[in-house]
Amino acid sequence: MKYSTATGNLQQLRTPCLISGFKTAKRLARALGEQKQFSRGTKDFDDAPGKRLCVHLDGAVARILVLGGLDNPSAAVFTKIANLAAQEAVKLPIGQAVTSLVDSKVKGKNAEWKASTLMQALSHAGYQFRHHKSKPKPLHQLTRIKIHSTDADSKAVRAAVKMGNALDAGLQLAKDLGNEPPNVCHPNYLLAQARKLGRAAKVKVSQLDEKKMTELGMGAFMAVSQGSDQPGRMIIIQYSGGKKNDAPIALIGKGITFDTGGISLKPPPGMDEMKFDMCGAASVLGTTKAVIEAGLPINLLTIVAAAENMPSGCATRPGDIVKTRSGQTVEILNTDAEGRLVLCDALTHALTFKPKAIVDVATLTGACVVALGSHASGLYSNDDALADALLAAGEHSNDRNWRMPLWDEYQTALNSNFADMANVGGREAGSVTAACFLSRFVEGTSWAHLDVAGSAFHGGARKGASGRPVPMLFNYLQNQA
Ligand code: BES
Ligand code: MN
Ligand code: ZN
Repeated sequence: MKYSTATGNLQQLRTPCLISGFKTAKRLARALGEQKQFSRGTKDFDDAPGKRLCVHLDGAVARILVLGGLDNPSAAVFTKIANLAAQEAVKLPIGQAVTSLVDSKVKGKNAEWKASTLMQALSHAGYQFRHHKSKPKPLHQLTRIKIHSTDADSKAVRAAVKMGNALDAGLQLAKDLGNEPPNVCHPNYLLAQARKLGRAAKVKVSQLDEKKMTELGMGAFMAVSQGSDQPGRMIIIQYSGGKKNDAPIALIGKGITFDTGGISLKPPPGMDEMKFDMCGAASVLGTTKAVIEAGLPINLLTIVAAAENMPSGCATRPGDIVKTRSGQTVEILNTDAEGRLVLCDALTHALTFKPKAIVDVATLTGACVVALGSHASGLYSNDDALADALLAAGEHSNDRNWRMPLWDEYQTALNSNFADMANVGGREAGSVTAACFLSRFVEGTSWAHLDVAGSAFHGGARKGASGRPVPMLFNYLQNQA
């Protein structure tokens, strides 16, 4: 979706479709002299949230997609209406549309928020993944949206539109990577995608191959990767949009391009969904793309730990002990707890760049799905200020997190008789103990962990990557700029 701005009198508009609230639509129809037609078309219309109707007119505005409930809606109601408007708009046989929804008042929210909310809704509704259909006809044609605003709001909306276009590109990348099948999207594919980002100015892409990672002592990463014929990669992207000596913010993504569980093999039902086990990586790559497109004045370090978790003759056995890059040893009791193994070495590697904050994103535990479902990402942090910033970004972008505890009491679950720690902590609090494991590799650095096992993709009929938490991370980084 491509967004642009529009100001001035709606009466002067020429468009195949105006997306607007009932009152604005009625006023416009009257001004255009099409009051009769409008009244007939909307006779039974109930101006309430969740209601919509498409009315055809004869003049320069060919139709109006009328939304109900826009008389001083709450933020939550506005968000629902924006999503409905977007889903209806993309069904219409049109290539472009104008929306005046930003003109309606929303309690406690400004034009920037309204425009961003609307654009995110349109980006989600407009997304399609048809690469592997033999007759890839587009499901819809709508690709260009003009966001109308009053003159007073136009500056804020122009800025929001720039960010909206950047987020659209980032969301699209994150979803495409997530949706690609695991025979296409392997670690080398992720590296190729990162290299594409590296074509932009101020971006440097590098990588560590398995030989280099072995030399560096990344025994935990290698314990996961060694069972697969696909070579693992540690992908590193450095974006220097900020001041030369400013410490970067680091984003780290779990990039398990397929998680069979390894020798601790997963049961067959739903195993195909483990192609989404690289959604953390997809989200940090998507966020990086958005940051590059927006040209944010920050320094960003993005690291993707990309590997495939397979059972084979060279796979890690339950009971194997490995040494991590940090020097700490791990007894691998369950090879299906592989995300924390690739991430711990990525975290230690990130520390060598002296970042001011680290945020890792991972589809880490089924336990997180049990605890929070799909509405919130699980947030863990050793730094209250960082946690609050991420919570606020999640609220603003409707991509919410819920903070979970990282208390010391949970750490003992990881005790091992044979190594410094075990890689699993037993049946209780599985998402918490996974976060506890990671916390042991970032001591002294401001760090947050997002468990997105429930939020990064949908199952069932809507099966597909959600693009989360790209909106939240991008908003957080905008606030740091
Ligand atoms: N990738 C899975 C977690 C997952 C589950 C993500 C469901 C998305 C949906 C992870 O690698 C895993 O297998 N975790 C284990 C950990 C356990 C062995 C301690 C789990 O959650 O069962
Ligand atoms: Mn696993
Ligand atoms: Zn996994």
